[in-house]
Amino acid sequence: MYCAETRQLSHSFSSHADALKSVNLQVPGGSIYGFLGPNGAGKTTTLRLLLGLLKIKEGEVLLFNKPLRKQRLQSLAKIGSMIESPSIYSHLTATENLAIYRELYQCSGQRIGEVLSLVGLSETGKKKAGQFSLGMKQRLGLAIALLHQPALLVLDEPTNGLDPNGIIEIRDLLKKLNEEQGISIIISSHLLSEIEKLVTHVGIISKGKMVFQGTLNELTGKQQQSSKLILETDDPGRSLEICRQLELNVISGNGKITLPVPSREKIAALNRELVNSNISVFEMSVIKKDLETIFMELINQ
Ligand SMILES: Nc1ncnc2c1ncn2[C@@H]1O[C@H](COP(=O)(O)OP(=O)(O)O)[C@@H](O)[C@H]1O
Ligand SMILES: [Mg+2]
Repeated sequence: MYCAETRQLSHSFSSHADALKSVNLQVPGGSIYGFLGPNGAGKTTTLRLLLGLLKIKEGEVLLFNKPLRKQRLQSLAKIGSMIESPSIYSHLTATENLAIYRELYQCSGQRIGEVLSLVGLSETGKKKAGQFSLGMKQRLGLAIALLHQPALLVLDEPTNGLDPNGIIEIRDLLKKLNEEQGISIIISSHLLSEIEKLVTHVGIISKGKMVFQGTLNELTGKQQQSSKLILETDDPGRSLEICRQLELNVISGNGKITLPVPSREKIAALNRELVNSNISVFEMSVIKKDLETIFMELINQ
């Protein structure tokens, strides 16, 4: 079951070319979905459409398997969100900020203490939100989004501008919310490295089009597929012959020999043949493309 889904969602802002082109976003219930793409790719537009903050012109949004246009209030009541920067009053304390939203959401006073403790802001006392660090402001924004105990959190670049410590804090908090309270999370980012340790699923958007969607394992599978074995010996000609005898596909054989990574047995057999033929092996190694490279290739294709 998907907790959030878009079908053939397209959008254009009057004066611009299409901002979104037939986006099919599929966020499984219980997942942490990383929505990745460079600046201007269409992440915020997609999330605003998903939350009913922008009028849908073409395509459809489903929340908890129900069309947004039919079940607007019931569905949105189950979602907490933070789009771009959190809306907080800088002249008020964390508790006072939450008190305002508490009235809006009609939840118990006790809930304020609960969310403050969840995001680690219990000790801020009389300090005004205007004096908070960026990370604390983001966590207060999260506390506001969590007040009404949502089933789904939609966070647009919540780690933007945070230092590495702030990023780790938010990441740990989101992991905890997902694991301990079963909250599904959509988190957007323009940096794979910021979310790859957190997410279970990934959607990659570029120029308004989804270029990849799947589990994190499927994305790392692509990494495996594009790995190569590099072989350097003192006799490339004979080494090449041995590769062919073992029915290995050679990609290039000039100097160093490059081949798709064969099975472990074939690697062992190749090694044995080379040694038995008195060929000196200088290098035999597997080169993996890192995830960042695969991400860059996907968004530039
Ligand atoms: N309010 C707007 N008016 C006109 N164009 C917009 C507006 N909001 C976004 N865009 C354009 O839509 C595209 C997608 O933007 P956005 O969804 O903000 O991307 P992202 O969040 O991935 O950085 C960009 O080309 C952007 O300039
Ligand atoms: Mg954005």
